[in-house]
Amino acid sequence: MEPMNPLVNPVLNWYHMHARALPWRGESHPGAWGVLVSEIMLAQTPVSRVLPYWESWMTRWPHPRDLAEAQVSDVLVAWGTLGYPRRALRLKEAAVMICEQYAGEVPDDQALLRTLPGIGEYTAAAVAAFAFGRRTVVLDTNVRRVLARADAGEALPLPHLTSAERAVADSIVPIDPAQAALWNQAVMELGAIVCKARDWDCAACPIADLCEWRKADYPGDVYAGKRRTQGWEGTNRQVRGQIMAILREAEGEAVPIAALTTAQQSAAVRAINGLVADGLAVREGEALRLP
Ligand code: ADE
Repeated sequence: MEPMNPLVNPVLNWYHMHARALPWRGESHPGAWGVLVSEIMLAQTPVSRVLPYWESWMTRWPHPRDLAEAQVSDVLVAWGTLGYPRRALRLKEAAVMICEQYAGEVPDDQALLRTLPGIGEYTAAAVAAFAFGRRTVVLDTNVRRVLARADAGEALPLPHLTSAERAVADSIVPIDPAQAALWNQAVMELGAIVCKARDWDCAACPIADLCEWRKADYPGDVYAGKRRTQGWEGTNRQVRGQIMAILREAEGEAVPIAALTTAQQSAAVRAINGLVADGLAVREGEALRLP
């Protein structure tokens, strides 16, 4: 049997002491559907913003069947300002598929999870681990950053996941499935609250003494990856967000396109065309509404 990687025990002990109590986590997690909904929301939105949305979704649509039967416009209204609303459409499609192909039960296998709409490598691994206690390799941006630093001695991971990085991560995940699931959750939490991209806090870190990046005195430009990110003002995402907010306000009623294009004509036209193409809005003559 392979020896346990020295990073594992300190991180698990730290997690027992410092983990945030989150409702989709731990022994009393609310079932696989709740975990799946949480991971879809958390993939691109911070925990603090997800919490109230997750609570109200689980109250309103506690079972995949409930969401499968919901109106698309209600689903988009409930998605509110979580951002990247295509996730809401895919989540509803996933609920339909869970009902039609898996008798209403979230599949417990990573490969089957990946066949669901909107579920990629990360989400399939996370749900298999956190809902079903499977041994998987969960690699989100937090985990990747911790391993890049502690193991590879680099400030940040590469923009895209490589098979070499997957292999290293796999070699660190404990063999025992329950320990593996805990490790995945713990290392993610360490990245989220201690080993942050900008304000890392080595004094609070349980593996500071083992960290290759720290041993090498923090080489590399930590902000290099950040500079490429788009500003917000005037981006297509911002204009799409403004239009979706107006459509949510209308709760499925059609809104004249002229009322949506007053400010930045060409940006609004581009955003409207994109929203229609993505299935987030429907054109009705000279008006727009939720699907
Ligand atoms: N981000 C993604 N998944 C998460 C989880 N299960 N807990 C906290 N943050 C997360």
